[in-house]
Amino acid sequence: MAIVYVDNKPYRMNPDENLLHGCLSQGFKLPYFCWHPALGSVGACRQCAVKQFKDEHDEHGKIVMSCLTPAKEGTRISIADPEVAAFRAGIIEGLMLNHPHDCPVCDEGGECHLQDMTVMAGHDYRRYEFEKRTFRNQNLGPLVNHEMNRCIQCYRCVRYYREYAGGNDLNAFASRDTVFFGRHEDGVLENEFSGNLVEICPTGVFTDKTLKHHYARKWDQQFAPSVCVHCGLGCNTDAGERYGSLRRIVNRYNHEVNGYFLCDRGRFGYEFVNSERRFRHPVLKGQPTSVASARHYLSEKVASGKVIGIGSPRASLESNFALRTLVGADQFYTGIGDAEARLVRQMIEILRRGPMPTPTLREIEECDAVFIMGEDLTNVAPRMALAVRQSVRQQPMEVAKKLNIPLWMDYGVRDAMQGAKGPLYIATPYATRLDDVATATFHAAPDDLARLGFAVAHALDSRAPAADNFPLAGEIARALKAAKKPLVISGTSWASEAVIQAAANVAMAVQAALSFTAPECNTVGATLIGGSPLSAAFQAVQNGRADTVIILENDLYRRAPAVEVDSFLKAAAHAIVLDHLANATTEKAELILPAGTFAESDGTFVSSEGRAQRFFQVFVPQNDVLESWRWLKPDHWQNLDDLLAAMYAALPELAEVRYAAPSAAFRIAGAKIPRSPHRESGRTSALVNINISEPKPPEDLDSPLSFSMEGTPDQPPAALIPFFWSPSWNSIQAVNTYQKEIGGPLRGGDAGVRILKPAAANGQSYFNAIPSPFQPREGEWLLLPIYHIFGSDELSCSAPGIAELVAKPHVAVNSGDFTENAEVEVSYAGGTFRLPVRIRPDLPRGVAGLSVGAPPLVGIALPAWGTIARPK
Ligand code: SF4
Ligand code: SF4
Ligand code: FES
Repeated sequence: MAIVYVDNKPYRMNPDENLLHGCLSQGFKLPYFCWHPALGSVGACRQCAVKQFKDEHDEHGKIVMSCLTPAKEGTRISIADPEVAAFRAGIIEGLMLNHPHDCPVCDEGGECHLQDMTVMAGHDYRRYEFEKRTFRNQNLGPLVNHEMNRCIQCYRCVRYYREYAGGNDLNAFASRDTVFFGRHEDGVLENEFSGNLVEICPTGVFTDKTLKHHYARKWDQQFAPSVCVHCGLGCNTDAGERYGSLRRIVNRYNHEVNGYFLCDRGRFGYEFVNSERRFRHPVLKGQPTSVASARHYLSEKVASGKVIGIGSPRASLESNFALRTLVGADQFYTGIGDAEARLVRQMIEILRRGPMPTPTLREIEECDAVFIMGEDLTNVAPRMALAVRQSVRQQPMEVAKKLNIPLWMDYGVRDAMQGAKGPLYIATPYATRLDDVATATFHAAPDDLARLGFAVAHALDSRAPAADNFPLAGEIARALKAAKKPLVISGTSWASEAVIQAAANVAMAVQAALSFTAPECNTVGATLIGGSPLSAAFQAVQNGRADTVIILENDLYRRAPAVEVDSFLKAAAHAIVLDHLANATTEKAELILPAGTFAESDGTFVSSEGRAQRFFQVFVPQNDVLESWRWLKPDHWQNLDDLLAAMYAALPELAEVRYAAPSAAFRIAGAKIPRSPHRESGRTSALVNINISEPKPPEDLDSPLSFSMEGTPDQPPAALIPFFWSPSWNSIQAVNTYQKEIGGPLRGGDAGVRILKPAAANGQSYFNAIPSPFQPREGEWLLLPIYHIFGSDELSCSAPGIAELVAKPHVAVNSGDFTENAEVEVSYAGGTFRLPVRIRPDLPRGVAGLSVGAPPLVGIALPAWGTIARPK
């Protein structure tokens, strides 16, 4: 650490960083706009000025930009110096000349970095009296709102969108003294991470359009720390509620997981919580019923003894465990389709045997050679794609290091790199959004992807079994071998054991990190809870061993072919379903119990990385909705901690989940942690339609969070941070004040605990089941799934904004025998669909893709051979 003197007092700062970073890490209130810890420094706004002195005798000093000046040993600066303070006030006065000052009607008002910095810089009087420059705003689609008049030209948006997220359709357009930040024409922002503009833009130019439909100020919302439910990566979120509806999702910084950014599915998919299709009351035989009679019916059926339970990879560990406890471990079945369950078990086994470590998303950013074996990351595990996109900078950045350009000096580093990219190899059946930064891609059927993997592993280690000598295999092997931090990524997307095993061989051969994606928010957790295969549940009912089935938060029609689920549900005399949204399975239920969504529940998910993370109830629903585990729990479990204690005793391998978050008894100086910001306004008037007096806030028996603004003013442990706020920092950039060092871990450690760890000794040997080369068949197609960030996930499709962007079900082929959009019949052993055709030249010969996720393309067991024909 270097000693830097600020206003004549010594402070310890990181010498590899700049002075702005150091000053903010030390808690100084130094205003800035264009710098962002994830983007580095460009010196565009001049807002972060400080005065630098040569030595202690220098009385004049010179004004420098703190974001462009290294925090070198012995540096002397002043923040308080009147001349530099006046400079900063002058800069913001200039930036504000054209600003509309429309804070009362701006969605950013009250949590705006521009407001905070204006106050911090001391600009409090407007002298400019002339006409302001105005712009026409653009319609950027259903997710992000555009109001260009508020722009201060800091350039963060285009730097983030183009250089960090890889988008092409947002830019800075200049004419004379005017700069416009937007698209070349109105239209939906194409990048899958566009929602981060809402947080990156320090003003109200880009705001959350979904929030606009049910707007509430930050201080009028009630928040809880949460975990994204829309894929297996477990990005941390803060969810905000008012009047019983969920208003928005914002990023919850976790240094190891999502850092500063979410994907658009995760940020905007939340509106399913407010859907009209929610169950609010129990429904028995198609009629609403009381909670008491629903409970009575449930206990009666459980007491009959012929009952089985089917768990779910989108329900919490706690709800799965409560169902397992209710029906008994032998009568509990995993709610994951058989093929997928087998693959996930295999992935967990590989990771446990080691020695390949699983990297966090942050560690993925730091890897310097990546081989993606089979995953369309942007559509399956989006935030991981964003991390991989950063990893390609690692090797070329070595040039900047040799030239002694500090890595935070963004444009200096980019100039030194000259657009060079480090090794990234992508082997998938079709082109992916990451291909633009790939060194080479390989599009083939899953068996050939696996063969390439086996060939790479053999090229790395001759003891690994040999496959064909693919020309690309040697190149990939050399790149991985030369890397300091090589990484292999794979997953379940093609239902191919061979692909997963080949990926494991490559990682073993080069001692690379190994990362597997998992399809849903608790796929790994549900697998660790265990249970017999889903097909065995079907057999148990069909053989008459059970006549009642309790289905937990699971649309079985997405897990197995419709004919199998139909005959299973027909054979079950009584189907009891706990879920939040109506779906094909709830349609067949005798009793529906209204289950809480993530926003109305406490629970734990285990991410694909093996990280157990707790999410907390954002609000108590004002109806019969209950957390699934509360419907199912025995009477003697009073709260979540009782359930967790029982779970640790029954399943010792989950014992470390206890470290995911403090227990309900946790207090800071005797106080709970408030879910509402301290400035929450109008609490009595907010509920005046119900009662003129202030009702007592609900009690929370399950967590150390209170349903009010009362509680500790101190920073809670990371797992319990409901929102980021601190004095003078009202925007999300208040996160700076929660970090040990800016851009580093949160004080007290990041949220979550890794419960999957590789064994100390290498218990793994090479897999050797190499598949035969793929052979196209005459007149038939190998049907594979095609994934979509908007459309393949069950829950986010019920959010109106996302629903507008969902890809229409289609079949993709590379054949000239079909014409774009022509309707065809796709037939396979499980049925026939009529679908429009999309021509995709990137698909291999003999392979067709079905855009899975949206009906009717759900629950299909793929890959499968089928035919595609023009309808007669
Ligand atoms: S739109 Fe926002 S992020 Fe972009 S330049 Fe303007 S103020 Fe900065
Ligand atoms: S990457 Fe996955 S977990 Fe993260 S925000 Fe997107 S959908 Fe949610
Ligand atoms: S933050 Fe330093 S110049 Fe913009």
